Amino acid sequence: MALTVVILAAGQGKRMRSNRPKVLAPLAGAPLLAHVLRAARQLDPAGLSVVVGHGGGAVRAAFSDSDVNWVEQTEQLGTGHAVLQAMPVIPDDHQVLILCGDVPLVRSETLAQLVAAGGPDQLGLLTARVDNPAGYGRIIRQENGNVRGIVEQVDASPAELAIDEINSGLMVLPGKHLRRWLSGLGNDNAQGEYYLTDCIAMAFSEQMTVLGIQAPAEQVLGINDKAQLARVERLYQRAQAEALMAAGVTLADPARVDIRGTLSCAADVFIDVGAVFEGTVELGEGVHVGAHAVLRNATLGADTVVHPFTLLDDVHTGQACEIGPFARLRPGAQFADRVKVGNFVEIKNSQIGPGSKVNHLSYVGDTTIGRQANVGAGTITCNYDGANKHRTTIGDGAFIGSGVQLVAPVDIGAGATIGAGSTISKNAPADKLTVERSRQLTVEGWQRPAKKPPQK
Ligand code: UD1
Ligand code: CA
Repeated sequence: MALTVVILAAGQGKRMRSNRPKVLAPLAGAPLLAHVLRAARQLDPAGLSVVVGHGGGAVRAAFSDSDVNWVEQTEQLGTGHAVLQAMPVIPDDHQVLILCGDVPLVRSETLAQLVAAGGPDQLGLLTARVDNPAGYGRIIRQENGNVRGIVEQVDASPAELAIDEINSGLMVLPGKHLRRWLSGLGNDNAQGEYYLTDCIAMAFSEQMTVLGIQAPAEQVLGINDKAQLARVERLYQRAQAEALMAAGVTLADPARVDIRGTLSCAADVFIDVGAVFEGTVELGEGVHVGAHAVLRNATLGADTVVHPFTLLDDVHTGQACEIGPFARLRPGAQFADRVKVGNFVEIKNSQIGPGSKVNHLSYVGDTTIGRQANVGAGTITCNYDGANKHRTTIGDGAFIGSGVQLVAPVDIGAGATIGAGSTISKNAPADKLTVERSRQLTVEGWQRPAKKPPQK
């Protein structure tokens, strides 16, 4: 049967105590809903609908995906009512897979298993055994093991409350029957809501089979508050750390690394504690990432070392570069092989050639540096005149003394030497010493003022 996925995401998420819709809360740097959408898409469904309500505009605006059919649920009258809003575009002969925007860890293999449990006259329900079932709907099974119904916590008897198998909220139902059941739902229950879960009992009363598929409890964790969000984040990060280690990456501590995006590593990569990876990061063979470094959209060549407390944002390096500690590389920093950038150095939109060094306390912006050049401590490119940005070029083998200001646009020739403390606003020729500073003067016979004796 063809498949339509319906993701429920209209709830307010009151317990999050946030002004933004719950499904936009970030898990590993991406909205909760993005994780659910990714799992859904892996099933290659014929239809994909997302039911939004609270903050629906903001949710839609956060996703540009054209394959999503957005459905508005103007009043949140319950999960059954939410699904009903999506039914007009769902053909009778489709299976309908219901997912929740706040259950982000479910794996597509698990969903495929669930879908396989459904059929034209058969339903699949994803359940889990949990240590603490409080708050969840409880699964009532028949003697033969099939599911007979779901009882919500608030509607449950003491005996039902003792059941530790819970409803994940994820299920698959045949479209034709679902349409009929939803239109027959009532809201005569403790919450006065139209419960999707009542469809299970309706199917049972029509002698249809409901298969309860048990998933690992972690996969069906729902997020209702910030503590659950943090717990799910740690589970997610742990899984990524395990995958990295399985691929041969050495992690100083798998509990102290955060990947908010995609991290790919060649052989023999070492990652120290507290490292954060965002966006797409690629680390070459033997790369070493020091403690508390943040790497965002970076590609590092083999054997490159990032020392502690360094921030890389949109950076490409060649092999065997050395960066930090306490360096800040901003968008457009591109290094050839063996470049060294040391402590308290900021680099922006600059290309640095092989073997060149900017070791201490510098700002290099909008600059092209050739090979084997040395930029001395405290050198600043003055790339901004208050209105426009200008470029600086530093030729191969140039040596810039300490404390130099390079006022762009300006060219420093190959092999040029710039005396320390110079403010260079005109091009400096190749292979010559250029100095811009007043001559040093020693005043003969000058005496330090002496302290006056105290007056009586
Ligand atoms: C629901 C289930 C419960 C299950 C639990 C798992 C029902 C009646 N109960 O309970 O058996 O154990 O999920 O987490 O289905 N939503 C809408 N529109 C609405 C109401 C809800 O879109 O009018 C969405 C929410 O945004 C959320 C999902 O449906 O993504 C579940 O709603 P929620 O209110 O959290 O249901 P629970 O009471 O937790
Ligand atoms: Ca919930």
